[in-house]
Amino acid sequence: MMTMRKQIAAANWKMNLTQPEVKALLDQLLTEPISLQSHEEVVLAVPFLYLEQVRQRIESLNGYRLAAQNCHQKTAGAFTGEVSAAMLASMGIKDCVIGHSERREYQAESDAQLAEKVDRCLEVGIRPIFCCGESLSVRESGKQNEFVGAQVRAGLFHLSAESISGIVIAYEPIWAIGTGKTASSAQAQEMHAAIRAVLTAHYGKEVAEQIPILYGGSVKASNAAELFGCTDVDGGLVGGASLNATEFRQIIAALK
Ligand code: PGA
Repeated sequence: MMTMRKQIAAANWKMNLTQPEVKALLDQLLTEPISLQSHEEVVLAVPFLYLEQVRQRIESLNGYRLAAQNCHQKTAGAFTGEVSAAMLASMGIKDCVIGHSERREYQAESDAQLAEKVDRCLEVGIRPIFCCGESLSVRESGKQNEFVGAQVRAGLFHLSAESISGIVIAYEPIWAIGTGKTASSAQAQEMHAAIRAVLTAHYGKEVAEQIPILYGGSVKASNAAELFGCTDVDGGLVGGASLNATEFRQIIAALK
């Protein structure tokens, strides 16, 4: 029997919150933490500076995990200002967001670089949360499934079946990020099923069925339950609403 696919509420703080604000948010979120079932996870993807502070707060909590928002594609060396996957692993970090659309756009991260970043993570036991998603113009052209399928192939299909079984995918349509314009649950389900079909065609059903696919793009307390209720939507990667403890707690509760 296949194990139950993980259902994940992931917070992506992006470049937000000062240190006192982090403390206040963690107090609200974790003083009485929502307890999770064995197939549920909460991931906090926080700026590098706050990783250690958050790690200390969640280390005794079942199912709560810590993520970096990025790592460098090389193992080590003369890359001033960068952070390697090995450094993250040595600090007890379990997950790393790779290829967020903001990094693809503003840091011009290419598919080839992202494939390398995925490798650096897996080499040191970090689980990549691999992001994909189309722009509004691609969506309007009707080529979104092809576009996202190509991102998934380019970033991940060099992996063995065993390696890809250990990753998480996040589908985040760029037109829905930070815009308040969420994909409808039907649009999300359609794309998630398309991504799973791409995975199935290459790796087979058993592998594809194990890989959590999160939806991201204006997830909030009021729409989380409907989105997470879709067959192929295994939780969310949440930006703006993850900065508000009340909202994010309701989003975690929507995993149930
Ligand atoms: P949003 O961001 O929830 O603020 O739309 C999601 C993301 O970019 O991860």
